[in-house]
Amino acid sequence: MAATTRAAFGVQHIAKGIGRLSNIVLRKGQGSYVWTDDGHKYLDFTAGIGVVNLGHCHPKVTAAAQSQIGTLVHGQVNIAMHEPMLNLIERLKPVMPDPSLNTFFFWNSGAEAVEAAVKLARMATKKQNIVVMQGSYHGRTFGTMGLTKSKTVYGAGFAPFMPGVLTSPFPYCNQCAIAGADPTMGFENCCNNPIHELKILLKQQTAASDTAAVLIEPILGEGGYVVPPPGFLPAVRQICDENNILLILDEVQSGFGRTGKYFASEHWGVRPDIMIMAKGIANGMPLSGIVANKELMDKQNPGSMGGTYSGNAVACAAGIACAEVMQEEKILDNVAARSKQLFETLFALKASPKTGHLIKDIRGLGLMIGLEFNSPTFPTLVTKDVPQGIASKVQAKCLENDMLSLTTSIYETIRFIPPLTISEEEMKIGCDILTKAVEDVAKEG
Ligand SMILES: Cc1ncc(COP(=O)(O)O)c(C=O)c1O
Repeated sequence: MAATTRAAFGVQHIAKGIGRLSNIVLRKGQGSYVWTDDGHKYLDFTAGIGVVNLGHCHPKVTAAAQSQIGTLVHGQVNIAMHEPMLNLIERLKPVMPDPSLNTFFFWNSGAEAVEAAVKLARMATKKQNIVVMQGSYHGRTFGTMGLTKSKTVYGAGFAPFMPGVLTSPFPYCNQCAIAGADPTMGFENCCNNPIHELKILLKQQTAASDTAAVLIEPILGEGGYVVPPPGFLPAVRQICDENNILLILDEVQSGFGRTGKYFASEHWGVRPDIMIMAKGIANGMPLSGIVANKELMDKQNPGSMGGTYSGNAVACAAGIACAEVMQEEKILDNVAARSKQLFETLFALKASPKTGHLIKDIRGLGLMIGLEFNSPTFPTLVTKDVPQGIASKVQAKCLENDMLSLTTSIYETIRFIPPLTISEEEMKIGCDILTKAVEDVAKEG
């Protein structure tokens, strides 16, 4: 089938409910690049939405999965333990952000792991309510749709959702009305209103005695790559401690080196009671998990957790190889260097008279970086006259110039999530494509 015919076949027969950045058909991936069925090569600044952290088809991870396929593919967790899972736990334990996190449950997708965390929190505390953050993304299953607050599209038409979910504001200083009205306030000097609102929520809407957990992405992902100001997560931890509420950190997107630390919570030294992992854990093999201390985890009744494919042996073998590559290739050092390189490009765009007027904010940690453009949709916060839909236009230009990138959030934001193994030269190519894309959009107006 010719490439165009094949794409049309996909459009016809793949569910429309899957929104797609493009209709290209991927055949191969290697390192920071993917190739289409007609041989076109793209630099991948999406890493499959932060999944192939070690690059497409990392040779060591591929070899581990291939070898495991010939040994044991499926060792069902409700029937027996299997070696790769035990070996994976051995590799993961030393990199946990806190030594108390020592007992694991593995599943397949991020959303399933989020649901597992909520099940654990409810069962362990015998309380029902879960507080989530405005702008949060936790998945698209029935349970997680009710927890996701980043865009209405994820829930519109599917209600009613899981009950017992309350929403509290996340500190998005760049879109904060208080900071907008007072130039002395902002990320460096947060008004702390979200902490105030969380305290009020616990007085007015959900009593601490009914609240099982606060569930937070340490850095909002689908909500806009928003890094909280330094005091936020420690203050939430304190509120949880004072009110006997569990803190669940969703590190599905921010984990496994993405932000320059193994887990994002390490930037603030905040210990989660339950941590959720997926994506980078196995570099593309479907694997997710939660971790907590043994006393908490073992409050669940035997048989209440599990699933046919939960903690698949091949995915666990890939996960072991990932943990080894993270150390052997000093991945965190590369993240630091490439992050600096990308930020320099973004700051140059902001400083440039050609493009500076388009840019509202540059933010992120490690290689989880967002570029927010000014938007006419939120006029009170706009500083200059700017065209509609800049982020999508820039993304389209990048695609025209052979680079995949993603937008994020309801605001005009592009996110950059390249593989953590990206080389200096590949990053330079990506930065040049991006610079040209923003300049072209600025020219076209
Ligand atoms: C923070 C976060 N939590 C949960 C999920 C859901 O993971 P999955 O798509 O594997 O179900 C995602 C996916 O992007 C995510 O970014």
